[in-house]
Amino acid sequence: MMRTSPRKLLQGATGVVFLMFYTTLLIFWDHRDSSMPTPLRDQFKAAGEEEQPLGFQERAPRSLSESDYPVDEPGFDNRTSNITINRDSNTNTVAVNAFRKKIVNNVDLKDVFISIKTTKSFHQSRLIWIFKTWFVLAKEQTYFFTDGDDPDIQSKTGGHLVNTNCSSSHNRKSLCCKMSVEFDRFLESQKKWFCHFDDDNYVNVPRLVKLLQMYNPQEDWYLGKPSIRAPLEILSRENTQQKIAFWFATGGAGFCISKALALKMMPIASGGKFMSVCEKIRLPDDVSVGYIIEHVLRKKLTVVEHFHSHLETMKFIKSSSFSDQITFSYSKFGSEMNVLTIEGFDLKIDPTRFISLHCHLFPSFDFCPP
Ligand SMILES: *[C@@H]1O[C@H](CO)[C@@H](O)[C@H](O)[C@H]1NC(C)=O
Ligand SMILES: *[C@@H]1O[C@H](CO)[C@@H](O)[C@H](O)[C@H]1NC(C)=O
Ligand SMILES: *[C@@H]1O[C@H](CO)[C@@H](O)[C@H](O)[C@H]1NC(C)=O
Repeated sequence: MMRTSPRKLLQGATGVVFLMFYTTLLIFWDHRDSSMPTPLRDQFKAAGEEEQPLGFQERAPRSLSESDYPVDEPGFDNRTSNITINRDSNTNTVAVNAFRKKIVNNVDLKDVFISIKTTKSFHQSRLIWIFKTWFVLAKEQTYFFTDGDDPDIQSKTGGHLVNTNCSSSHNRKSLCCKMSVEFDRFLESQKKWFCHFDDDNYVNVPRLVKLLQMYNPQEDWYLGKPSIRAPLEILSRENTQQKIAFWFATGGAGFCISKALALKMMPIASGGKFMSVCEKIRLPDDVSVGYIIEHVLRKKLTVVEHFHSHLETMKFIKSSSFSDQITFSYSKFGSEMNVLTIEGFDLKIDPTRFISLHCHLFPSFDFCPP
């Protein structure tokens, strides 16, 4: 039998003091997000959160909480499958080609690499809305990054489904793993712009191209929208006295990075190194992108308000402004749907409103009502 030595007691006392300190930090976080994984809680906080006005969309960075992710997928009616796009139809081709001709700032749709992060369990429920709508406008540019093989989806994407071999769980490691593969694939593609979106985004393709044409891809650009009011503050891992503050674009709203900036990120983030950065700072994929760009490379996020994630209330986006928005999203919590308010198809056929939105933006598509 071992006796408790004075040294053990001292260690115990230190532990108690540490625990008290730690608990204070936990209390700080608890009102926001009690499900945040423990190792993260003492590392960062969003500065200035006390001043937040009601209704401002704020979240702890994604993957820190399960509630950040929609709990349910909107179901659909068997009538939904009647809505199909004839890819060879003339009217669709006209709509697609209308904006392909314009080349400004040496940027055209063909210069953009669009990556969609998804997971195998969402292939059927989420990708259907993308395939029926905006994917048709950018099928050569768009790649889907997932965590399992799926011959049906592989063929629907025209061979653009990438099995990242990352884990299918919705945790930091897996999200970082996928982002890492997305980034490497972009670099291989030699395109001028890297745009990342989630599988619950509608991307207004011509509007995205118009945005990118405003910026020179040979300069450093990081375009996106933060979901917190003030820069994120974390304590430096090397020197715990030092605070680091930086902005990051919410992955769920979409963001774009110019080639020039991506090349600067290469030594830090390519060839799987992105995962090491996530591990080191223990923050999710989109936050880690912000960390690399803003903190390590000292480049600034350019805020683009036209990106929208499912954390925002979709009905607040005015229909008169739809054509000016770049991304949209949806979510479902229990029976409550967070979707755009838009006239069009029956809610049962089009629960996400993406099909109605698509017809609002591109009325000449053949499934759109005359
Ligand atoms: C749709 O489903 C309903 C019942 O779930 C069925 O009665 C109906 O025949 C189906 N319609 C089609 C077009 O498959
Ligand atoms: C689907 O389309 C077919 C052919 O246009 C039509 O006959 C059928 O009624 C439609 N089914 C539903 C469920 O809307
Ligand atoms: C995933 O694993 C398969 C089989 O080993 C391999 O062929 C493929 O290249 C891997 N994917 C990636 C993105 O590394």
